[in-house]
Amino acid sequence: MLYGADYNPDQWPEEVWDEDVHLMQEAGVNIVSLGIFAWSRIQPAEHVWDFDWLDTVIDKLHAGGIRVNLATATASPPPWVSATYPETLPVDETGASYWPGSRQHFAPSSPTYRRLAGELVRRLAQRYAQHPAVVMWHVGNEFGCHLWMDFSDAARDAYRVWLAKRYRTVDALNEAWGTSFWSQAYGAFHEIFPPRLAPYSHNPSSMLDWRRFTSDMLLECYLAEREILIEAGATQPITTNFMGPFKPADYRGWAPFMDVIADDCYPDPSNPNRIRDAAFQRDLIRSLKPGVPWMLWEQATDAVNWRPANPGKTPGALMAETAQSIARGADGIMFFQWRQSRAGSEKFHSAMLPHAGTDTRTWRAVTDLGARLAALGDLPAPGRDAQVALVFDWENWWAVEERDHPTEIDYLALTLEWYGAFHARGIQVDVIGPEEAASGYDLVVAPVLYLLRDEGAAALARFVEDGGTLITGPFTDIVDEHDQFRTGGFLTRLGDVLGLRYEDFGALAGESSGGSGVGALSADDVQASRDAAARGSVSFSFDGSSSVGRLVAETVHPAGATVVAVFENGLQTGSPAITRHAFGGGEAWYVATHPDPAALDALVGTVVESAGVRPLVDELPPGAEVARRGELVTLINHGEHPVEIAITGTDAETGEAVERVSLDPQGVAFILAPADAPSARPSALSGSAIA
Ligand code: GLA
Ligand code: GLA
Repeated sequence: MLYGADYNPDQWPEEVWDEDVHLMQEAGVNIVSLGIFAWSRIQPAEHVWDFDWLDTVIDKLHAGGIRVNLATATASPPPWVSATYPETLPVDETGASYWPGSRQHFAPSSPTYRRLAGELVRRLAQRYAQHPAVVMWHVGNEFGCHLWMDFSDAARDAYRVWLAKRYRTVDALNEAWGTSFWSQAYGAFHEIFPPRLAPYSHNPSSMLDWRRFTSDMLLECYLAEREILIEAGATQPITTNFMGPFKPADYRGWAPFMDVIADDCYPDPSNPNRIRDAAFQRDLIRSLKPGVPWMLWEQATDAVNWRPANPGKTPGALMAETAQSIARGADGIMFFQWRQSRAGSEKFHSAMLPHAGTDTRTWRAVTDLGARLAALGDLPAPGRDAQVALVFDWENWWAVEERDHPTEIDYLALTLEWYGAFHARGIQVDVIGPEEAASGYDLVVAPVLYLLRDEGAAALARFVEDGGTLITGPFTDIVDEHDQFRTGGFLTRLGDVLGLRYEDFGALAGESSGGSGVGALSADDVQASRDAAARGSVSFSFDGSSSVGRLVAETVHPAGATVVAVFENGLQTGSPAITRHAFGGGEAWYVATHPDPAALDALVGTVVESAGVRPLVDELPPGAEVARRGELVTLINHGEHPVEIAITGTDAETGEAVERVSLDPQGVAFILAPADAPSARPSALSGSAIA
């Protein structure tokens, strides 16, 4: 188990470095991410390089037995870069420049930025690739975190090249973008601009490509550095830190280029769903590289500084959140940052070593945590432990949240609601792209899969044909990969599987949907419309109780499907709300609205039973969480009362046999409980090993 933090010794005089190493040892730290923002210290002027201090720090760490995750230091260009090469600065959609004075003020497509960053990376790699302390490479930092879209001339030029490569001919682009609408037909690639400020909506197909392009530009920055590291002889794992479900970057597309997946996660203490949301994030991250442990590169020991109010964390919460990462596949637990800053924007952010010193709650919490993790020893790799896969797709995210739709949809929020119904039941979930739907799973859940690629549709159909259960809807299989309707209506790819024909979207709204009907919508009109949409609902009966649907009540017609529930009011009265359809060896469910949490829970209960999906433990008390990684089952009590959970296995920390675990609030138990899977499906958890 790796344990450590970002280490920024460039903030401190050399005398402090020895104390750092000494205290790191005391805390159980065995790895640090070194020098993430050290560019100006390493290269104070264009032709001036200073590695002596870094040599000293790395040698001290090495002598102290601390491994180095060496940063490429490219995330914050020094002042001389911005002053000498203003073309490296990013630009917003209005044409205004982002100026230096903070960090991440670089245009990802700028050839000058890439040249200067590349030179830095080359020198770092040449100097340190063979150093025995360096065990991995930390490329950049949180690519796109503050600035994910750059509309500069560098971006314009790169976008044209990117489009020409994608479409080859401008006619193909015109076709893909549907430019015969609103006089947008292009005669040549050089007529195309980034979607800078325009009077009204940009072409949605172009916006989808712009999203792909901006994700690709961030990835290219990473790849350029990766290539230089390898060329210069680096053989250590190379990666960068992800930020969970981060909309601007299609991490599923990035993952193959990461030697190990690293993630940063800062659950918001004031978010009542933070445990659910963080669990989803960690499952998403684990699923990016199935079977391979990942690393948590950043979390906070205590308070952050960047929300309006920043309460601290109890040591129990720190342990519980850390255990959640381990439970869901992490083999490294790291923090931002080692020693609290004494100057700069983040001086109020917590660290492993607080500014108030070692006689503090935080220091005791991190040293206790370090000791407990060290005692845990090696853990099994995450296996194919889930029977359920939840589809979460970046291109769909981009497209379904474009403007000018029947209603506004928050794709992540809806996905989290679906995820929550499984999480609360103690059912393990992988998070996948539609193309990864495969027969190792028993149930695939694909909410609002508006943009459905042909390959994804084929995989979902095959999955059902081979005996799996699919549940999808609403607003699914509406457009192709260009955000265009396919000819032949809607559900053109999944209609046969679902046994349905799709007629209409049925956006819901309460009374007064805003807008005077004349001219452009004012901000008040937009707000009134949003409020009305939030009030809009529809009812249907499911499982003997009256249920509520939100957002939409679609008009779908059975074409083979059995109607399970119908809408009982509104425009769609009598029309199917939930259907199921036997297809091949499996079954496909459709839900024509977004069920509220109670209805969603009832629906998930019915579908998991019908699909033969079992929870990891027979009874999971409210507030408790369970997850499996191979043989290891982790139980966490996030609630306010003690709980008892029945499970047969061996306590991984004490070696004692257990049949029942008692957990105080924020208590954690690591239990070795092999999942023997004699069933036909190798990934399926039989549950027989678990009481
Ligand atoms: C991000 C950054 C760090 C730091 C932390 C603060 O994760 O990568 O440099 O700013 O946020 O929470
Ligand atoms: C206006 C425009 C039309 C069309 C409609 C849509 O009236 O003139 O081109 O955009 O709005 O409601």
